[in-house]
Amino acid sequence: MEILDLRHFASADLRPLLEEEISAWGRLLSWDYTISAEMILRYMDAKILPGYAAIERGNIFGYSFFVYEHSKGVIGDLFVRETRTPDRHEVEEQLLTHVIETLQQSPGIHRIEAQLLAHQTGEVLRPFLQQGFSRHPRVFMSLEIGKHAPSVTGVTQQFEMRLWSEQQYQSAAALITAAYRGHVDSEINDQYRTLPGSLRFLNNIVRFPGCGTFDPQASFLVFERRSNTLIGLILCSQIRSDVAHVTQVCVLPEFRSSGLGEAMLAASTKNLRARGFRFISLTVTEANDRAIALYKRIGFESARVFDAFVWEG
Ligand SMILES: CC(C)(COP(=O)(O)OP(=O)(O)OC[C@H]1O[C@@H](n2cnc3c(N)ncnc32)[C@H](O)[C@@H]1OP(=O)(O)O)[C@@H](O)C(=O)NCCC(=O)NCCS
Repeated sequence: MEILDLRHFASADLRPLLEEEISAWGRLLSWDYTISAEMILRYMDAKILPGYAAIERGNIFGYSFFVYEHSKGVIGDLFVRETRTPDRHEVEEQLLTHVIETLQQSPGIHRIEAQLLAHQTGEVLRPFLQQGFSRHPRVFMSLEIGKHAPSVTGVTQQFEMRLWSEQQYQSAAALITAAYRGHVDSEINDQYRTLPGSLRFLNNIVRFPGCGTFDPQASFLVFERRSNTLIGLILCSQIRSDVAHVTQVCVLPEFRSSGLGEAMLAASTKNLRARGFRFISLTVTEANDRAIALYKRIGFESARVFDAFVWEG
């Protein structure tokens, strides 16, 4: 087995492995990984995807890639052929070790983030812990829409819920920055800490198909009527023909515990039910117990626990 630079290969070399990864994401997360896979293949063809491939007899049977975002490196993916036992985790660890070392040695890189959605918590710990990463377990939760009676939750006279609008881009970024000040999720994703970072986050969610395809019909904004200010939002993406994913839900601290979070989730669920969606999923940090309690009360169930890792040099 050899570990080689991913840029030495053409997209056709990776395609068979990606087919397996698409099937794994479908089985484990009810997530159609096809669009992400196509993006990966396009980047490979352009020879601009940094990463490593595990090779045996000329075939790629595992890979991991990363992206540079200013002074941060983000580990985008890690996948090793599932039939590759008994050394699958060993190969994953070797790939990660290469990726981590490359990022740590890249000039100007002071931070590395990774979220391994398709790996169970603790599955690939060693390379991260050895390099001084912190670990944040996160929960992948799912709600079967048909199993839950339509909720009648609405917002009171004080507030108004409207459909997502591109015109609210700046105010949505400002809301996200304010909602995550001092929050554990801004330790995991440093984009939340600043306005330009939150704008980049929104851009990734709304304009790029990396985390599903943004669904403006199931995404809502809540305004306080008196001041006409944006105080809450929920963003959803389509990740399979019948599955949506909540990519963001937040409320300004001073407006919490009034039922707005629940009302926004009910609005998205109602819209998705009417359009024939069967499931909604989301991810939440295990330490965010208020949010988890809210999701459980609504009927979300934990499907898996995975790890987010962060390194600051
Ligand atoms: C998670 C979050 C969106 C919830 O929003 P919220 O508007 O506070 O949610 P709700 O009011 O619907 O429900 C939360 C609480 O209100 C209570 N509540 C719900 N409906 C209520 C009502 N009609 N009247 C009074 N209280 C109510 C709930 O029991 C719950 O109790 P708690 O205050 O002890 O937690 C909000 O806390 C937030 O923005 N957090 C920071 C960002 C974040 O963590 N986002 C989730 C990432 S996965």
